[in-house]
Amino acid sequence: MGSARVLIIGGGGREHALCLGLAQSHKVAQIFCSPGNAGTANMASNVLIDINNNTAVVDFCQKESIDLVVVGPEAPLCNSLADALIARDIPCFGPVGSLANLEGSKLHAKTIMQQVNVPTAGFVVLDSNSDIDSALNSYRANPWVIKRDVLAGGKGVVVTADFDEAKAFIVDSISSDGKVLLEEFLPGEEASMLVVMDGSGYVCLPSSQDHKRAYDGDMGPNTGGMGAYSPAPIITDVVFDKVNSRIVKPMFDFLSNLAVPYRGVLYVGLMITDDGDPNVVEFNVRFGDPECQITLPLIKSDLFDLLNSTAHDRLDQLRVEFHDAHALTIVLASEGYPSKPVKDRIIAGLDYSTPSLTIGQSWINFAGVKQLGSESLSSGGRVLSCSALAESLTIASQLAYELIESIELEGSFYRRDIGGRAL
Ligand code: AMP
Ligand code: GLY
Repeated sequence: MGSARVLIIGGGGREHALCLGLAQSHKVAQIFCSPGNAGTANMASNVLIDINNNTAVVDFCQKESIDLVVVGPEAPLCNSLADALIARDIPCFGPVGSLANLEGSKLHAKTIMQQVNVPTAGFVVLDSNSDIDSALNSYRANPWVIKRDVLAGGKGVVVTADFDEAKAFIVDSISSDGKVLLEEFLPGEEASMLVVMDGSGYVCLPSSQDHKRAYDGDMGPNTGGMGAYSPAPIITDVVFDKVNSRIVKPMFDFLSNLAVPYRGVLYVGLMITDDGDPNVVEFNVRFGDPECQITLPLIKSDLFDLLNSTAHDRLDQLRVEFHDAHALTIVLASEGYPSKPVKDRIIAGLDYSTPSLTIGQSWINFAGVKQLGSESLSSGGRVLSCSALAESLTIASQLAYELIESIELEGSFYRRDIGGRAL
């Protein structure tokens, strides 16, 4: 048993996956999770810290002699939690506030991409002085892509072929935020690349694909993500080389040369054209949820070493190995998700034991689950996800679907076509 004491910030499926990965490390003695959930409670001490109050987090870390803070969600990062931790010499996995702005402001991300010559869609910024009709007309050939310039919890982007809807969203966004981005539509297939990065080097984790729409066949409303799998076959070796040379390397050259370099994971949301050319759709400054749940289990090396080396700018000294395997996860959502999820219903069939993340295994990643006495109750829109690691995507899919079918929650639903494109 090692001696490291780790604090994970967040309480969703992503943070459960981080907990599960760190629980496999023999270097970790104790994990705290704030706020955590019913699943993390079996591997970590759930603690209630006000995670939007940097002083409260720093005080907790000092009192509990925390060796490493791993920040799950973007909001505390945009609120400069990493800056506050670094100022007290507390190592943090997650970038400082000025760099978290790559996710916090779409316009900032676009400006940096233009500066370092990373391929992305063209755009214009509209404000109260703009001629909205003429801007919309000049982008008329394809659906309109409109992006708010604020953290909007997944509700900041509209892609629509309906002129009136596009115009209304632009008008609303300008009136609440002062400006909005109108972006060129990129045709192609989406994929994600999570890149762990610090001042000394970077490691691309296996590629993945998320399923953002609520229902089968990519129908229904946009969600946080209904399931994912890794690796994504669209990222062939040739495409990977382009992503690396045209996007990841230029971003690393920029981000590693700053006074405080980027230390964390850069989530690169990609659109791959029919010709196999990658464009950046978005940057996030944290692991994806649910991409994290299927990417971390593919890492064969010690997860604590990876996260801790990053926090200390020592990634270049680490050799990171991956399993030659496939992972897939299916999200179980509450009735009414995403608009009005019904909560506080009893969930049956849950296994709380800590699984080993070995090939041929399936397990639950807990998210919106709380315990009340001996009962498990739903407490969020995305309740849990069932994940599996296997030698083929077909077997991973079978294992994950067998597991999700064994869980009962009234009114809940899940997609039956996760990984369908690759299978
Ligand atoms: P974002 O929050 O920027 O990732 O946008 C949300 C979703 O909108 C993406 O996952 C894409 O499906 C879609 N999207 C965003 N930008 C574009 C674009 N330029 N062209 C086509 N689809 C886009
Ligand atoms: N699953 C998409 C995201 O985490 O942003």
